Amino acid sequence: RIAYVNGRYLPQREASVNVEDRGYQFGDGIYEVVHLYDGRFIDEDRHLDRLERSLREIRLPMPMPRQALSHVLNEVARRNRVREGLLYMQVTRGVARRDHPFPAQPVPPALVVTVKRIAPYPATIDNWSGAAITLPDLRWARRDIKTTNLLPNVLARQAAREQGAIEAILYEEDSGLVTEGAATNFWIVDENGAIRTRPLSHDILPGCTRGALMAELKQAGIPFEERPFTRDELKRAREAFITSATSFVKPIVTIDGAPVGDGKPGPVARRLFELFARHVK
Ligand code: PDD
Repeated sequence: RIAYVNGRYLPQREASVNVEDRGYQFGDGIYEVVHLYDGRFIDEDRHLDRLERSLREIRLPMPMPRQALSHVLNEVARRNRVREGLLYMQVTRGVARRDHPFPAQPVPPALVVTVKRIAPYPATIDNWSGAAITLPDLRWARRDIKTTNLLPNVLARQAAREQGAIEAILYEEDSGLVTEGAATNFWIVDENGAIRTRPLSHDILPGCTRGALMAELKQAGIPFEERPFTRDELKRAREAFITSATSFVKPIVTIDGAPVGDGKPGPVARRLFELFARHVK
């Protein structure tokens, strides 16, 4: 496997970062995960827009102009001969003697790009669903920034795995309102049949899959609502599903051990899965 690290393409096992990289020491960086289908990046513009925005929010410059970055992404995929995969890129505030504030003498941001092969896009939704648990959202107040600081997400996903679940659905402890999954956006079909997901704010990541799916829904004339819902409403939902670059549209069929609806992927999730498959393909 070949990785791109700060201007060079290297065998991944030889690629390394400096022990004083601020991403390593502070989680002081931004990342993106982009899906590669049949050699094409899905929603590349959305991912690069979000990268630019996240970097701006933490006051880091783009490591190179956007077109050059796009070229590097393609080159990493090409050199690895990956046509179905996940591309990972991260930009950190570079290498400096450990000190919390930004380096006084500016250092170049560090850019790493890797790619891994994954199973091809699922042909049907039938083996494309899973269980979820609910957990209090313990993250910081700027979840709209895609930072490499992922400890609460890691702990939530680990708790999910230990309970045989694929995702942890996070909720605000005081209000009971659901935010999103540990690494996905979260949607329900509520008891009245309305497709709902939480509106964008500082409280959730503006998912590229979420945005792309909404654009497809609008085009198909399928109504949906960006309206918050509580953990109690979630427990009464007819259907539930997650969206992300890795899950596309993936039904959640049990929550905290109780079935959602009849415990199988529902008709709405099925329809949206098909709609998104057309978007990808
Ligand atoms: N996660 N919310 C969170 C907290 C996420 O980490 C992600 C993506 C999403 C979905 O965003 P998108 O549709 O742009 O993938 C929502 C990536 C896949 C990850 O951390 O691996």
